[in-house]
Amino acid sequence: MTIFKPVAFVLATLLPATAMAEAIEVAKSPTCGCGSAWIEHMATAGHDMTTQDMPDDALHALKATLGIPEATMSCHTAQVQGYVIEGHVPAADVERLLSERPDAVGLSVPGMIMGTPGMGPREGGDAFDVLLMNQDGTSKVFTSYPEG
Ligand code: CU
Repeated sequence: MTIFKPVAFVLATLLPATAMAEAIEVAKSPTCGCGSAWIEHMATAGHDMTTQDMPDDALHALKATLGIPEATMSCHTAQVQGYVIEGHVPAADVERLLSERPDAVGLSVPGMIMGTPGMGPREGGDAFDVLLMNQDGTSKVFTSYPEG
């Protein structure tokens, strides 16, 4: 039995699969503190993040252009590998999306829910669903999180 593994293999097991991929581009309003907190959550999970601040009306127009239905909108909007990530979506769900690569617009946690990443601690937080936004404007539950 050998205890030595090739260095490349060890690195590959330590880094998340998406860590080497392109950066996640986040658009947010300059005053959005929870958006910055979500970016920190994603960066801590190993993702390369870039941020673009824009006025609320430009941000809203971007959301509409990207195909995010009104009812599914949240504060900040991210784009990665052809997908849209809207609001306080946990890093684990983004990673699952990028590995499963469904035919969809992307993921959303609509609104602003206490205890989602960037919105305070999970402990004591509210139950929430991560939605998969379909191309036809409908969405379905991707992951359900219980009360923290
Ligand atoms: Cu927010």
